[in-house]
Amino acid sequence: MDAIKFIEVNDQLKGEWMKGSQWSEAINERVIHTKKENGFSIIAEYNHTPAGIISIKYQELINPLEDLIEAYIDNIEVKNQFRNKGIATALIKRVFEIINVKQPKPYQVRAWSTIDKVEMLNLWKKLGFCFSSTSYLLKEGREIKGYYLTKKI
Ligand SMILES: CC(C)(COP(=O)(O)OP(=O)(O)OC[C@H]1O[C@@H](n2cnc3c(N)ncnc32)[C@H](O)[C@@H]1OP(=O)(O)O)[C@@H](O)C(=O)NCCC(=O)NCCS
Repeated sequence: MDAIKFIEVNDQLKGEWMKGSQWSEAINERVIHTKKENGFSIIAEYNHTPAGIISIKYQELINPLEDLIEAYIDNIEVKNQFRNKGIATALIKRVFEIINVKQPKPYQVRAWSTIDKVEMLNLWKKLGFCFSSTSYLLKEGREIKGYYLTKKI
C-alpha cells in the first residue's frame, strides 16, 4: 500500500533534499527552516522515498499586534514524479496538527504565491485559504504579481 511518512528535517536531511530540489541552493538555504531558526520543516516520504517538503517559520505580527505569532509557510515543494498524489495536502494538514498544539498557539497560517503557481493557488483554494492580491516592483522595474494566503487556526 502507498504510504506517506513524515520526518522532521535536520541539517543532514536539508542538504540531501537540496540536491534534488527544483529551487537553487541559495533559495533553499533561505526557505528551509529548522528548529534553531524558530521554525521547522517536514519531509514527506512516499513509499520510503523523500517526495515533498514544507517549511515553516514562526514570526510575530507587527505593532500593535506583536503579541500574536503566525506560522509562515516559506516553502512547499513536491518532486515532479510524486505530484497529484495528495502529498502537498498531507504536508499542509500535518503542519496544522503541529501548530494546533503549539504553545503559545499561533493566530494564523500565512503563505505567498506568485500568480504563475497555478497548481499551488488551486490547492490553497481547495484547502480553504483566503486570497489577498499584491504586487511589488523589482529594482530593474519588473512587476511581480501574487497573492498572500491566510487561514485562521
Ligand atoms: C504545488 C505543489 C506543491 C502541489 O503538490 P502535490 O503534492 O501535487 O499536490 P496535491 O496532490 O496535494 O494536491 C493536488 C491539488 O493541487 C491542485 N493542482 C495540482 N495540479 C494542478 C494543475 N495542473 N492545475 C490546477 N490545479 C492543480 C489541485 O487543487 C489538486 O486537487 P484536485 O486534483 O482535487 O483538483 C507541486 O505541484 C509543486 O511542488 N510545484 C512546484 C513548486 C511550487 O510551485 N511550490 C509552491 C511555491 S509558492
